[in-house]
Amino acid sequence: MADLLTFSVIKADVGGYVGHSNVHPELLETARKQTAEAISSGLLIDAYVTNCGDDLQLIMTHRHGVDNSEVHQFAWDTFVACTETAKSLKLYGAGQDLLSDTFAGNITGMGPGVAEMEFEERPSEPVIVFMADKTSPGAWNLPLFNIYANPFNSPGLVIDTKMHQGFEFEVMDVIDHKSIRFVCPEEMYEMLMFIGAPRRYMIKHVYRRMDGMIAASASTQRLSLIAGKYVGKDDPVLVTRCQSGLPAVGETLEPFTFAHTAEGWMRGSHHGPLMPCSFEDATPSRFDGPPRVIAAGFQVAEGKLIGARDMFADPAFDRARAQANEVADYLRRHGPFEPHRLGLDEMEYTTMPQLMEKFKDRWVDESE
Ligand code: 13P
Ligand code: 13P
Ligand code: MG
Ligand code: MG
Repeated sequence: MADLLTFSVIKADVGGYVGHSNVHPELLETARKQTAEAISSGLLIDAYVTNCGDDLQLIMTHRHGVDNSEVHQFAWDTFVACTETAKSLKLYGAGQDLLSDTFAGNITGMGPGVAEMEFEERPSEPVIVFMADKTSPGAWNLPLFNIYANPFNSPGLVIDTKMHQGFEFEVMDVIDHKSIRFVCPEEMYEMLMFIGAPRRYMIKHVYRRMDGMIAASASTQRLSLIAGKYVGKDDPVLVTRCQSGLPAVGETLEPFTFAHTAEGWMRGSHHGPLMPCSFEDATPSRFDGPPRVIAAGFQVAEGKLIGARDMFADPAFDRARAQANEVADYLRRHGPFEPHRLGLDEMEYTTMPQLMEKFKDRWVDESE
């Protein structure tokens, strides 16, 4: 069997320029220097460094498997080096997502987001990496369902016999730290009951049932649950393999023609439309948003990343962007009212406990 390839995307917000709107070019430069060294030393085969809004992504290929402590250590050290650069420029929230002072072997649960998969590289291996800012990993649930379970989105489910058995979804319960697998199409309706509540139930992996081939991997860390308080939004990443018995590139991009509502935006405490945009436009500024998603397309060749192609820099996504702006106007008119603002139980930047304390003696009992 050929050597397996590991595709790792590890990301963190280590400082915003200006506010939470972008990553400063010097941070990207710092990260690119580090990845160039890791390629020379043989740790990585290839790497592509980019950003979506204020989140810095390291897209890496190597042969060390998922959850590899050396690769995770490298990503951690790179984020620490970038934090130093961010501090020297007094960027906003320098080191925001690094929730610990020391690295403990696996970066998962330490703040940065991680999406990894290991596979045998096919004769042609198109991969799309989705990266979002000002939102949470639950934002992938709707598009992932459409890509791998909805024949009205992906005619490949109907036309390509390799997909007739459907796909298996691994879903995380991020509150109780459990996971479950659902098979589609048979368990589609039951699965929707869970993944339709994307704050708690998040799709982590998708597998093709015919042979168990991994198709997609998403980051599902929730910073507030790790830190016990609001420290910024999770701003997730998602890796998808495409074509030849998997959904085509176009089927994988198609769900993003609908600017669906996701949690995040200002102070991570609002609902807003997820706007697909070009790399250049991934700079959420209006009310710190609206939430953005970019798509970087690669052809993988012996582990080399041929790309990236800016997949949403296509006028065919203009209508989704216009829809996002319209929904943004509509939601903004609600000001501090739900459903623009997140529900009470979900408020993360909330002053609710302090308010409850402050007014605790002012409540008058109205029961008979
Ligand atoms: P493949 O089955 O080769 O992936 O072709 C499908 C296709 O490209 C449709 O867009
Ligand atoms: P980030 O999670 O992207 O840092 O945004 C935080 C925020 O509070 C935006 O208003
Ligand atoms: Mg930030
Ligand atoms: Mg961010």
